[in-house]
Order: sequence, then C-alpha cells, then structure tokens
Amino acid sequence: AAALDLAVIGGDGIGPEVTAEALKVMRAATAAAGDAEIRATEYTLGAAHWLATGETLTDEALEQLRGHDAILFGAVGAAPNDTRIPSGLIERELLLKLRFSLDHGVNLRPSRLYPGVPSPLAHPGDIDFVVVREGTEGPYVGNGGAIRTGTAQEIATEVSINTAFGVERVVRHAFALAATRERRHVTLVHKHNVLVHAGHLWRRTVEAVATEHPDVTHDYMHVDAATIFMTTDPARFDVIVTDNLFGDILTDLAAAVTGGIGLAASGNVNISGTAPSMFEPVHGSAPDIAGQQKADPTAAILSGALLLEHAGRPEAARRINEAVYADIAARGGAGGGADSGAVRSTAEIGDAIARSV
Ligand code: NAD
Ligand code: IPM
Ligand code: MN
Repeated sequence: AAALDLAVIGGDGIGPEVTAEALKVMRAATAAAGDAEIRATEYTLGAAHWLATGETLTDEALEQLRGHDAILFGAVGAAPNDTRIPSGLIERELLLKLRFSLDHGVNLRPSRLYPGVPSPLAHPGDIDFVVVREGTEGPYVGNGGAIRTGTAQEIATEVSINTAFGVERVVRHAFALAATRERRHVTLVHKHNVLVHAGHLWRRTVEAVATEHPDVTHDYMHVDAATIFMTTDPARFDVIVTDNLFGDILTDLAAAVTGGIGLAASGNVNISGTAPSMFEPVHGSAPDIAGQQKADPTAAILSGALLLEHAGRPEAARRINEAVYADIAARGGAGGGADSGAVRSTAEIGDAIARSV
C-alpha cells in the first residue's frame, strides 16, 4: 500500500501546537492499524509568515499543495487587536483562498456530546449531529464593495453568491450522509422569509433532492429559530445543511453546547477528488493562550480522524475516535486551555491519546 502524503499547515498561534499532536496521534493510529506510513510536508504560512515575507499564499505554494493526498490545517490569523496585520487579509488570502481554489464545496462539522463532557446546557440530551456547511459560496466570496468610504453617505455591500451547482452538491452530500445515519433526517437551515432569492433556491433544491431519497426525512428551520433549538433541544438535529455564513455561526454554537471549541473538528471536502481535501479544528489561532501548551489539541486530533476516514483508512480513524472518547471520559471535560484550566499540557493530551489508539 502507498504512503499517505500529507501537507501540514500549522499556521499561527496554537495552530502548530495542535497539528503536532494530531500528527503524532495519526501516526500512532496508522501503525496500530497496520496502514502504510504517513509522510508529512510542513508549509510555513500564516500571519507570522506574512509579517516576515509579505506573502500570504503564492501560486507556487498552492500548486505544491495540490500535489498532496490531503491537508492538515491548524489555524491562522493574528490577535484581533494586532494592528500590524490588516483584518481579514490572512483569512481571505490564505484560508479562504485554499477552500476556494481547492474547491472545498462541502464543509463537514460534526458535533457530539461525548460521555463525560459537561455541557453548559442543563438538559443537553444525546447530541449527535453534523452540520454540512457550504464552503465556497455565500458572502464569503468577497463579492461586494464600498462607495463614499468614510463619509456619512457610505454604502457597503457583501453580496451572497448561491449557485444551483454549489447548492445542489452540498444538499446532495447532506442527503447521502443522512442516508448512512440512524435517524436519516436532514434539516435545511436558512432564512427564506427574508432572503427570498437564495432561500428559495435552497428550498427548491432540498425538495428536489429529497425525492431521490424516500428513506430520508427532511424539514426546514429559519436560522434564528435554529439557534433556539440548538440551545434548548440540540438532540433533535441529525444532519443540518446550510450556507457558508449560517454554517460558520451555527458551528461555533454547536461546539459551545457540546463541550467547547477545543473539541470541534471539521473537514473541507473536495467531493469530486480534483484537489486535496483539508481538515482543521473549527477554532482559531487563540492568541490569548498561544505558545503556552494550554490549547486542547482534541479538535485537531478529531480532524485528523476525519482526514484518515476520508483517505480510506477507517480503522485508523476509528482507533483515534475511540481513544479520544476514552480520554475525554477519563478527564471529565475538555482537556486544556481556557476550557479546563490546563490540567494537562497540549503535548500531554496528545501523548495520552497516542498511547491508547
Ligand atoms: P479563537 O477560536 O482563536 O479563540 C476563541 C477563544 O477560544 C479564545 O479564548 C481561545 O483561547 C479559546 N480556544 C480556541 N481554541 C482552543 C483550544 N484548542 N483549546 C482551548 N481553548 C481554545 O477565535 P478568535 O479569538 O475569534 O480568533 C483568533 C484568530 O483566529 C483571528 O485572527 C481569527 O480570524 C482566526 N481564526 C482562524 C480560524 C482558522 O484558521 N480556521 C478559525 C477561527 C478564527
Ligand atoms: C472557521 C473560521 C473561518 C470561517 C474564518 C477564519 C475565515 O471562522 O473556519 O469557522 O469563517 O470559515
Ligand atoms: Mn468560524
């Protein structure tokens, strides 16, 4: 069998700290499962790299990244109050450029309340859902502008792009995923009572795709109401399909109700296989705890499991998930950093999980 050829973009802040642990655990699981080795090529990119070189993502680096089987991504971005770096520059020219250029149309963000994890909710129930977030469209494409900037007459627009192609592929993916799950249910989350143009495209697409999946039920919820149910009854959700921006916001909320951002994993998937998919924790570079070994690497480790699953290595992925469940149950909560008062360092958590895969 061939080695798995990964690109690793640690990025900024806690990014490199958590990808190091993810790679450690992925290698241990690979050995335990008897899979061919993982080869990793590190790419130095992010806010610090931009400060040092003036480069965000060169065409050359992008072409090199295309050649890997998959990408493990940490986090990028400066502290919100760091005035040396224009806000949005790194996010747009590095992270979003990767998602767009590599055609990551499906952004998978699973949420589970693991046994032993305290939820901020009094009655969380059995939470196990996946947000299938569109990854290449919506207001993220940067279609907009401002006129009369800085005057009292300024007008700024951010146009949300929704194509039949982009909506259909993510909706299809959501239904196909739901068909493999026990409850087989898809909830479209949008705001079609106000966003009538895009909202109706999403709705029609869901109705059309639903006819191909008679075994999958579906319903609809406005995004504002979805935030109510995600805090009052999150166990009701199975697969949520939604646009890029609603998906971004809902998945931080989903992380918060399932034990914190230190546990939330994601995969940016290229469903046509024309470029590598990219797996990353939902959290950012956490400048407030960077460089102190306080970050919980679990989100990155679970993202590594998603990567291995995607790469056709289900046994290694299963081993990681099981080891993480056991570790979380034993620790009684999230593992480090802001979530738990750093009982163990980032590396100690990674070591413990790597030992038990
Ligand atoms: P953040 O997710 O970096 O941090 C929010 C809070 O969560 C902080 O208190 C942080 O300490 C805590 N936290 C995050 N990850 C943690 C972990 N693994 N363990 C323990 N605690 C953790 O969000 P932010 O502060 O809004 O953003 C910081 C920077 O990261 C910004 O530049 C932002 O643009 C960027 N960002 C990048 C990504 C990405 O690369 N995918 C995602 C979100 C934000
Ligand atoms: C995420 C992040 C990114 C997003 C930002 C940093 C561009 O918040 O991955 O959730 O909005 O998608
Ligand atoms: Mn986000």
